[in-house]
Amino acid sequence: MRRKSSCLVILLLSLFLALPAMTAQSKPVDAEGHQWWQHAVFQEIYPRSYMDSNNDGIGDLNGIASKMEYLKWLGVDAIWIAPAFPSPQVDFGYDVSDYEAIDPMYGTMDDFTKMEKRGKANNIGIVFDFVVNHTSDKHKWFLESSSSTTNPYHEWYIWKDPKGANKPPNNWTSTFGGSAWQWNPKLNQFYYHYFYPQQPDLNWRNPKVKAAMFDATRFWYKRGVVGFRLDAVDTLYEDPNLTDNPTLPGKNEYGDQEQERKYNDKLPEVLQALAGLRTVADEYSAVLIGETWTDNISELKAYYGAHHEGLQMPMDLMFTQLKPLSAAVFRKHVEAVDGSGEWPVYVMSNHDIKRAYSRFADGKHDDDIAKVMAGMYLTLRGTPIMYYGEEIGMKNNDPTRKEDVKDPIGQLGWPEQKGRDGERTPMQWNDTPNAGFTTGIPWLPVPMTYQTHNVEAEKKDPNSILNFYKNLLALRHTNPALLDGDYVAVNQNDSNVYSYLRRYKGQAVLVVLNMSGIPQNVSFDLAKQGFSNGEAKTLLSTINGGETQKLSGISLPPYTVYIGEVTK
Ligand code: NOJ
Ligand code: CA
Repeated sequence: MRRKSSCLVILLLSLFLALPAMTAQSKPVDAEGHQWWQHAVFQEIYPRSYMDSNNDGIGDLNGIASKMEYLKWLGVDAIWIAPAFPSPQVDFGYDVSDYEAIDPMYGTMDDFTKMEKRGKANNIGIVFDFVVNHTSDKHKWFLESSSSTTNPYHEWYIWKDPKGANKPPNNWTSTFGGSAWQWNPKLNQFYYHYFYPQQPDLNWRNPKVKAAMFDATRFWYKRGVVGFRLDAVDTLYEDPNLTDNPTLPGKNEYGDQEQERKYNDKLPEVLQALAGLRTVADEYSAVLIGETWTDNISELKAYYGAHHEGLQMPMDLMFTQLKPLSAAVFRKHVEAVDGSGEWPVYVMSNHDIKRAYSRFADGKHDDDIAKVMAGMYLTLRGTPIMYYGEEIGMKNNDPTRKEDVKDPIGQLGWPEQKGRDGERTPMQWNDTPNAGFTTGIPWLPVPMTYQTHNVEAEKKDPNSILNFYKNLLALRHTNPALLDGDYVAVNQNDSNVYSYLRRYKGQAVLVVLNMSGIPQNVSFDLAKQGFSNGEAKTLLSTINGGETQKLSGISLPPYTVYIGEVTK
């Protein structure tokens, strides 16, 4: 009797304890228990460059709002908008001076609300970008912090006395060049900044900082934001003893001695902070995407948390570094990420990384290569995050003269480091001057390719990159194997053609990607995988084939995609 009742108590107790975790998740969208963001396609939008509604040359929230119908047409479910908070714009918004407002350059709170509503009406969620590691030096917290060593905010940042005669406390360098320590003559102390001196690092060891930052996320969840992309999470914590980093041979593009960032990058405490942000996110069924720069799969896996208490969507940024474009390179990487047992988050490019179109172009098959890349990462298991303009084949437009550079790291590191302007140019809407982005002077120049690579022109061309993306995303949203299926590589020894199956409950989609500039002929025997029919029903392809394809011989011209359904 006694045993029974204690069992009952334990059962009730465990149900009670499990309740918050259960309510934290929104209703699953499928039989697999997947959450909405696992079926969603995300796109990053760089607000300065998307659409300028008031023709001052800078994109804005009203501009984004006016494109919600386009995004829906394309098949985007959520947009991550790079920081639009008040900012001195030293790092174009990644230097936030107020987490709970909109920069007048981008609009007002009312504009935000209108944009959020128009997004909702089109089933598009708004993901904001939360700069967790640092604030602007103009944030009121830092102004207080730097006013005196006894100010209550002093401990909100990382201050340290000099080591000897005005020498920085250690050898840490900023990832944007120079020492990571900035001298403050008034306080006779240095403060620490992993990025620009105008971006002082917050002291995450201070519980008040944590609480204030958690509250800032609540502020936006309450106003309808469905999640955050968390900026620079790797560097949230520093070794409290400020131990010198081991030096490495050679100098970087800023002329600084290379070093292993052993004591200020990816400290174990990071996950605790992320789990705290996750607890808050769970109160609102929100999703957290991480800017997670990892060197290997185990580092990436760690960001999910051993018990999935960390980020739901740590970005696989290793994916952006893969080269050359080859079946073997991508097969190997996907095998490792997919095999980790977590939900992959593939990213091809963003506002810090040269556009994929330019990375892989061979000068002859550029548009076809763009379709191959899309055919791959939009059919893999996981959630993709696209970068605005990728869907029309936007290329990098790097500055050719130092005086044209806007990004400070380009000014500092020129000519070795040209900065990130090239991947941040205005979205190309049509073939009118400035690609229809603005009638003013755009803050960055539009490349000449806008005349052919723009939304209006590509909408009309059934073979455009844009229509390929649109058709592919429509397929991805409706095909159960693409939504929920597993990933199985096939023909693994083929060094030119990357092929795999996505299988779900007896259904399967075969994806075949010719990643070479040479025509290829491939055949598949899928009996071992349970699909012996020998034929595929074409779902989407860039080869001239029929409605069905014999698996005994598929002819693939250079850089082509074939996606078909196979049966038993
Ligand atoms: C990563 C952002 O993506 C980048 O643009 C920024 O410069 C740094 N974090 C610093 O916030
Ligand atoms: Ca504007």
